[in-house]
Amino acid sequence: MSADPERIDAALASWPRASLAHLPTPLDRLERLSARYPGITLWMKRDDCTGLAMGGNKARQLEFYLGDARAQGCDTVLSTGAVQSNYMRTIAASAAKLGMECHIQLEDRVQNASPDYRESGNVFLDRLFGAHIHHYPVGEDEQGADRAINALAEDLRAAGRRPYVVPLAPVEKPKGALGYVAAAAELLRQWQAMELSPDLVVVGSGSGLTHAGLLTGFRIAGSPVIVLGACVRRDAGQQATRILEHCRKLERMLGVGVCVAGEDVRVSDRALAPGYGKASDAVMATIADVARLEGILLDPVYSAKAVSTALQCLDLGEYADCDDIVLVHTGGTPALFAYREEILSSAPFNL
Ligand SMILES: Cc1ncc(COP(=O)(O)O)c(C=O)c1O
Repeated sequence: MSADPERIDAALASWPRASLAHLPTPLDRLERLSARYPGITLWMKRDDCTGLAMGGNKARQLEFYLGDARAQGCDTVLSTGAVQSNYMRTIAASAAKLGMECHIQLEDRVQNASPDYRESGNVFLDRLFGAHIHHYPVGEDEQGADRAINALAEDLRAAGRRPYVVPLAPVEKPKGALGYVAAAAELLRQWQAMELSPDLVVVGSGSGLTHAGLLTGFRIAGSPVIVLGACVRRDAGQQATRILEHCRKLERMLGVGVCVAGEDVRVSDRALAPGYGKASDAVMATIADVARLEGILLDPVYSAKAVSTALQCLDLGEYADCDDIVLVHTGGTPALFAYREEILSSAPFNL
């Protein structure tokens, strides 16, 4: 059975969507990086080029959340994330573009952060886009952070605003993942036009909406491509459970029946250590390699961890029978400036 992206279009047709991202994003061949792996061609899906506010995966996710917000007549958007959250930066820009008021709550997730981390990169851009910034003192409390932002939404409602909360913790309808169900159709069309049939797609897996959306989209279309999620926040066991739950919810939302099997959920936490928002020397080396071989910027929190996971697998001889591998660049470029000290003082940049 050949994969049919129209099945994805049909499943998504009734979900409201705001146009925020520049689509389709390019699919680039990584000539010089691929030369390290004879017989394998590495490709990069350039979702760092989604356009809005320096790009990234969140623009696709927000098309569905903010489409829903507009359909409900909301005038204010709220959300919560890390100080260097790409999501909060993209929400701030999206709200500006759609003429909505924006409130973001920044959580202290990274200990001993540098002044650049606290002031530059994404948080600097949040200010530029005119977001109202609130703070939450705990970093690993998704439910608590969501409660705090919902309490703020209630205060705004009482003051006459019509608030819409983009949730952090898993919810019954993870609408953001629909952006990546749609991205699966975009990739399938690109592959068809380029006469490619990749065996493996590697993507960063944080909240898991990008990973689950892609996997569900491919299976709805009938594509058996392997989707490997690179853990950036939780270990592989926890993340796999989370991804399958997201996929089940997506199947229900889209009315497609069960199409993702348990064994379809593949995750690796090879590049996770030393933890969220901290990068190992292997991850820093990936930033250096991809910049110096391909002229492409990766960030240490997400995109470099995804690419590093893929390269570490290949270095260990895993996925050796693949011909074409697609690395999804999910963005995060502004965070590079917040991590300037850590990157420049790491071993790979001091050889
Ligand atoms: C640049 C970037 N890449 C990847 C991810 C992970 O995406 P998801 O949360 O959908 O798993 C994020 C999430 O914040 C991100 O900002």
